[in-house]
Amino acid sequence: MAFIDSNVLPPPRHIAIIMDGNGRWAKKRGLPRTAGHAAGAESFRRIANYCRTLGVEYLTVYAFSTENWRRSQEEVAGIMKLLHRYLLEALADMEKNRVRFRFFGDLSRLSPELRQLCLDAESRSEEYDVQVNFCLNYGGRDEIVRAAKAFSQDVADGKRRPGELSEALFSQYLYSADVPDPELIIRPSGEKRTSNFLLWQSAYSEYVFMNVLWPDFTPKDLDQAIEEYHRRNRRFGGT
Ligand code: IPE
Ligand code: IPE
Ligand code: MG
Repeated sequence: MAFIDSNVLPPPRHIAIIMDGNGRWAKKRGLPRTAGHAAGAESFRRIANYCRTLGVEYLTVYAFSTENWRRSQEEVAGIMKLLHRYLLEALADMEKNRVRFRFFGDLSRLSPELRQLCLDAESRSEEYDVQVNFCLNYGGRDEIVRAAKAFSQDVADGKRRPGELSEALFSQYLYSADVPDPELIIRPSGEKRTSNFLLWQSAYSEYVFMNVLWPDFTPKDLDQAIEEYHRRNRRFGGT
């Protein structure tokens, strides 16, 4: 199902997506917001598969932010239920397709069952190569504060010296330890903001904002984003 010729336009090694617009998609159809989240989960499955056929090595998706708890209890409960169901299915696919799953975020606030599902998926897929990083109860600021705390604890325990800290070492304390920074970050739904996503890792990422709602996002939209990425002139502060 590959539309783009990945020999001509090689995909970035690491693509990150803010899966936004589920609620508006549902509203347009007179459906409850949860129906939008279910359609968004389908979209994730489709796009994750497409990324695999393109040869994308890392796909990071923003599924639930540290701020999303502010939504109604009903919506949060609906999202958690869906996550449980879709993760179970995704994990079966994971084994079949040898996809490695990692979870970025504070899992301690999830139900014990959902948390266990995440931990099992991580350990069961450790040896696989293509990697999906699933951001769940994730916040970029929270991630940085946690990393700072973990480093200070290592200093207090005598395992590290303060002067040792470098950008590379700090990165190792983030959820994304050992994952290269995303070259491309896509935000569908028309919003043009980061909403606390990958604040550290996105220092030199190319952002592509698109006017499509996440449940409507197709492989063709991904092709378009990759084409747009190839049109950018990445300078990294040089000339
Ligand atoms: C993204 O879609 C999913 C989550 C944040 C959990 P939204 O639910 O934010 O959809 P909109 O932005 O309201 O349309
Ligand atoms: C960002 O979308 C979080 C996820 C897609 C999981 P939001 O819908 O929560 O972001 P805001 O509220 O529009 O900034
Ligand atoms: Mg939104």
